[in-house]
Formats: sequence, C-alpha cells, structure tokens
Amino acid sequence: MENFALVRPEHLNHHGALFGGVMLKWVDEFAWLAATREYPGCTFVTVGMDRVEFKEQVQNGAILRFYIRYQNQGKTSVSYTVDVEARSSDSKDERSVFSTRITFVRVDHKGNKCRLSDRTEPA
Ligand SMILES: CC(C)(COP(=O)(O)OP(=O)(O)OC[C@H]1O[C@@H](n2cnc3c(N)ncnc32)[C@H](O)[C@@H]1OP(=O)(O)O)[C@@H](O)C(=O)NCCC(=O)NCCS
Repeated sequence: MENFALVRPEHLNHHGALFGGVMLKWVDEFAWLAATREYPGCTFVTVGMDRVEFKEQVQNGAILRFYIRYQNQGKTSVSYTVDVEARSSDSKDERSVFSTRITFVRVDHKGNKCRLSDRTEPA
C-alpha cells in the first residue's frame, strides 16, 4: 500500500526540519490502515517498532511517499515494513529518508490479544 503526506509548517521542529514524532505518527497510522484493510473486522494495537532510522532531514514542502509492505503474521500479530521517500516540490528526485518494521496485535473488546483471521488482499 502507498500513502502520501505533504510536510507543512506545523510539522516542523524548532530547527525548521520535519519533527521525528510526526513521521512516527504517520508511519503508525498508515501501517495500521494497511493492517485494518487487510484484516476486516479485526481491531489492532501497535505493539512495537523495530530499529527506527531517520536517514536525512526532511524540509518544509516535501512530498513524502510511504511504502507499506506486509511482512509476516503470527498467531495474534502481523508485521509490516515501512519505507519512506521524500521529494521536494521542485524536483522529480526521491530519496530514502526513513525505514522501520512495525508490528500490530489483534485485540478483543477488552483489549486482550486474540487469534488473527486470514489475511485478504484489499481491492
Ligand atoms: C499488545 C498487547 C495486547 C500484547 O499482549 P501480551 O499478552 O503482552 O502479548 P504477547 O507478549 O504474548 O505478544 C503477542 C504477540 O505480539 C508479539 N510481540 C510482542 N511484543 C512485540 C514486539 N516488541 N515487537 C514485535 N512483536 C511483538 C508476540 O511475538 C506475539 O506474536 P504472535 O501471537 O503472533 O506469536 C499488550 O502488550 C498491550 O495492550 N500493549 C499496549 C498496546 C497499545 O496501547 N498500543 C498503542 C501504544 S500508544
């Protein structure tokens, strides 16, 4: 799955570059959307992100492309890799700025983990 975001002034830190916490929020949200679309009817919580790597600063006005790829599932959890590329609005070149692996656990209405159903490819 792919998602896009535009970096605006409200996303910047006090040095004028993208605040890392905003990047993490987008990564969490877009990967959660992928899981929720691929497992209809399941409720997911984020349990962990592996090594988080910010490779380059991202400037105001950049267009971010999020590549979210299914990696594997266990009994109650499913993992995705997330790679982010940035493009400034006046250039065609994209550069890799972030990558991680994120895992979600299916929970029931009480917040207890429960067995995953089969994955479906979203239309
Ligand atoms: C997610 C939660 C329900 C897991 O409950 P638990 O009883 O501790 O579960 P377990 O330790 O048995 O792990 C459940 C699954 O997650 C996996 N898992 C646990 N910690 C993990 C981590 N750090 N990274 C990757 N996978 C992890 C386990 O391998 C297991 O996978 P499987 O069932 O597919 O084999 C519980 O930890 C929780 O509620 N956490 C808070 C979630 C939350 O609020 N997220 C938002 C953060 S702001």
